[in-house]
Amino acid sequence: MENMIDVTLDLEEEIKKLKKELNAVILAHYYQESEIQDIADFVGDSLGLARKAKQTEADVIVFAGVHFMAETAKILNPDKLVLLPDLEAGCSLAESCPAPQFKKFREEHPGHVAITYINCTADVKALSDIICTSSNAEKIINQIPADKPILFSPDKNLGKYLIKKTGRDMLLWNGSCIVHETFSERKIIDLQVKNPGAKLIAHPECEEPILRRADFVGSTSKLLKFIKEDKAEKFIVATEVGIIHQMKKSAPEKTFIPAPPEEESCSCNECPYMKLNTMEKLYLCMKNRSPEIELDSEIIKQSLLPINKMLEMS
Ligand code: 13P
Ligand code: SF4
Repeated sequence: MENMIDVTLDLEEEIKKLKKELNAVILAHYYQESEIQDIADFVGDSLGLARKAKQTEADVIVFAGVHFMAETAKILNPDKLVLLPDLEAGCSLAESCPAPQFKKFREEHPGHVAITYINCTADVKALSDIICTSSNAEKIINQIPADKPILFSPDKNLGKYLIKKTGRDMLLWNGSCIVHETFSERKIIDLQVKNPGAKLIAHPECEEPILRRADFVGSTSKLLKFIKEDKAEKFIVATEVGIIHQMKKSAPEKTFIPAPPEEESCSCNECPYMKLNTMEKLYLCMKNRSPEIELDSEIIKQSLLPINKMLEMS
């Protein structure tokens, strides 16, 4: 059976062999499990991954991340084979914004520029004017003429944060990330009291009370840069826990405490979509050259425009 794995296989070795055979590059997000991050050719945030996908000369892109990220790689490389270990690896933000409703939202607000967070489907990208990530959103918004009204979709928490940062009054889509909405302010305060001097760092997908309390807010790559450069020795990390693997690698002498979710016994600070990818599925997708990302050529053409606009503006 093509999905049965011999348990004696050294998966790391096999993946490395397949990478040579396929002339493949493995791109991974910081929220992937540690083994996947360690075997990847590049680990990064959404913007870094999109840039790498645009630059690669490999024949095959193996995307260890979620569906919208692999779709972006396919849009940038329509002639390449783009593999995703598990096609079910979605995102609550992308799910919250179906293309037909988004189209209606645009039609109800003519004359607005639609800036859309990269965490959305290719169909929604195709209906947008400019894509952004949490790394470049502020810079992009600041380049929009002051008299031009803006629709920002689909993350309302990132949207509210950006309104505060840029002073621009944007109309927001009502979407959110199931992981970043679980952090408990009360438990974070408790941790701060017990760990004096620890700095709270947060991803802008978190809710307002957490962001208000944070010493630093940024995309995953900006959080990593911050912990390397800042003098503090302890950090409370309000984003998906997978990133702590890179933080420990970058600053082994420092301490990283995952921000706790409200629910006592859940592992809600893990993204269930990101964690669908495993080393086994990574190996299998390379061995079977499947599952692959397939997109309609018209959608590729339309969605490439706002992605390229983002890359030019950031
Ligand atoms: P970054 O672009 O900051 O890595 O964010 C991606 C993401 O999905 C956060 O939940
Ligand atoms: Fe989507 Fe949230 Fe998972 Fe990021 S952490 S991929 S925003 S569900």
